[in-house]
Amino acid sequence: MTKNFLKLKYFNGWYLFLLLSFPLCLFNFLTMNEYDTKSPENISYLISYSVRWAVPFIYIVMMASSLRILFPGSFSAWLVRNRKYIGLIFALGMAWQALFIFMLSNYHRDYYYNEVFYFRDEIEGSIGYIFLTLMVATSFKKIASKINSYQWKLIQKSGLYFLWAYAFSVYWWNLFYYPFQQGGVSPRLVDYIFYWVGFIAFAVRIAAWSKSKIKSVQFRQSLALRCVGYTFVLLGIFMAGTGNLWLGAVNKITYYFAFSEETSLWLPFWPLEPFFSLILIASGAYLLTSNKFSLLDRASALQVK
Ligand code: HEM
Repeated sequence: MTKNFLKLKYFNGWYLFLLLSFPLCLFNFLTMNEYDTKSPENISYLISYSVRWAVPFIYIVMMASSLRILFPGSFSAWLVRNRKYIGLIFALGMAWQALFIFMLSNYHRDYYYNEVFYFRDEIEGSIGYIFLTLMVATSFKKIASKINSYQWKLIQKSGLYFLWAYAFSVYWWNLFYYPFQQGGVSPRLVDYIFYWVGFIAFAVRIAAWSKSKIKSVQFRQSLALRCVGYTFVLLGIFMAGTGNLWLGAVNKITYYFAFSEETSLWLPFWPLEPFFSLILIASGAYLLTSNKFSLLDRASALQVK
């Protein structure tokens, strides 16, 4: 039944886009009317509000192809088939954010430059919007035909990772950094939800990479290597929920060299604190599933010698 339901034309392609864009635009519009946009604080709230309508869709796009590998079936096939339209819904949500950012930076310049503007965030955000524009443009055949498939993949993949990373890292800081600063406020429910869903979106990717690799691994890794791999994965999972406990200690290392501290003033995401847990999990999964470390490979290499 779900199978037939997902095949209905109203739940696919541009119909799906229209279906999803309706509530997104309606709620953004109603909220904009409810709040007095003469107040910069209200516009700041509207910026946050509009992003919350967008972020779930970038997470869904991030998971689509991985879910297809992990759980082949009509639902994951539907997701992959429609990821372009779901991605465009994300772009629409971000267009609302862009509108509110424009209102804030244009009509409340002082507030914007005193309260909001932070050089690195500005670079990060601008790169995000450049990627988004390129991704949207190249999702149409006419423009996509002007570049080769390698360039197309490069734009779509790096844009996807960058935008996911932006959203995910915002909620990481909201959970593990700001509440622990002087006068910091407790995280909101939305911070928890969007952080963990963002985490799962990437973890699902790692699982899908691993599943694809396991098929081609000739033999299991040695016990010692498996221990290291599982330790990485478990440590990563532990670190994912405890950023506040290790941030200070880790930053002493990551900022040990002055160049690293200077770089963090402009290089997006540097030194990558929000991503440490996922990097560890991915490294563990790599050790556990890579042919490079498989015992058979080593045995056959010895035989060849
Ligand atoms: C130059 C571009 C950008 C500017 C100036 C900007 C500015 C802002 C501002 C002012 C807020 C509200 C902060 C607050 O209320 O405390 C915000 C929130 C946020 N922005 Fe952006 N942003 C930009 C680009 C982006 C991009 C590309 C993304 C990618 C997804 C993004 C994701 C977010 C998220 C996730 C939030 C938090 C929403 C929440 O509170 O739940 N922003 N941004």
